[in-house]
Amino acid sequence: MRKYQFINFHIKENYYLIEINRPKQLNAINKGTISELKKCFTEIRSSTKGFYGVIITGVGEKSFVAGADIVEFNELDQESAKKLSENGHELFNTIESMPIPVIALVNGYSLGGGCELALSCHLRIATENAKFSQPEINLGTIPGYGGTQRLTQIIGKGRALEMMLTAEMVDAKSALEYGLVNYILDDKEKAMEKSVSILNTVKRKSPKAIANVIKSVNNFYNKDVNGFDQEIKIFSKLCNSEDFKEGVNAFHEKRCPSFKGK
Ligand code: CAA
Repeated sequence: MRKYQFINFHIKENYYLIEINRPKQLNAINKGTISELKKCFTEIRSSTKGFYGVIITGVGEKSFVAGADIVEFNELDQESAKKLSENGHELFNTIESMPIPVIALVNGYSLGGGCELALSCHLRIATENAKFSQPEINLGTIPGYGGTQRLTQIIGKGRALEMMLTAEMVDAKSALEYGLVNYILDDKEKAMEKSVSILNTVKRKSPKAIANVIKSVNNFYNKDVNGFDQEIKIFSKLCNSEDFKEGVNAFHEKRCPSFKGK
């Protein structure tokens, strides 16, 4: 496993943990962080056997990710901004389409590109001090890493527009009401326990079914495919798998299934 400069990558017993590690910049993601995250997720994707998920968080207690690195905005022109945005989109599409669940443990500020990173994850677990915002309008632009689309998908048009038009911070309690986060926990330690406990529940399921639940749900947002048609195809294919036979047999034999991911 490779060493990284801007992220810490930990291989735990059954899951991976990624920490964005730029605490002096409140974990703002620069180009280097995006590039490392891309490499890291590609590495994880090629090695998911025996791993049931990824937890991504920011180093420290104050900030998950305070956005794209604004220092890098000084030199942006139209061409380089397009490249920057495309790179962010590519990373966040990769995260969204991972075959194992990715949990954002949102510890503190989750702003701009940080909020977009959390939105690209499958679940969001927040600490009490979490704050969400899409403040790009204050810089005279719009979210550039998929935020206009994913925030709208997740919390609906009215609330998404309000967040993007006002740039106001949304606290953890409101984020829970909006459906922006799944849970709020007192602190990072408890949020980590909750994230790991969710992954421990997922661990008992069929890896094939897990990957296909994610794929099928993502199809809902993919304008190029009919999610209903795809569901029929995926369901029927899975019903021909060893895991399905094991699941049904285990039910009849009143025991826990032992899935092999086949
Ligand atoms: N980029 C680069 N540096 C950042 C940063 C960012 N997004 N956010 C914070 N920092 C740096 C600050 O410049 C500061 O550095 P110095 O100590 O060298 O001055 C350090 O982190 C600590 O920040 P503050 O002193 O500002 O801490 P604070 O507690 O007073 O305020 C904050 C915290 C409210 C998060 C404030 O830092 C802030 O507003 N940050 C910018 C948030 C933002 O606008 N994010 C969106 C970026 S645009 C984007 O993400 C576009 C996109 O979709 C692609």
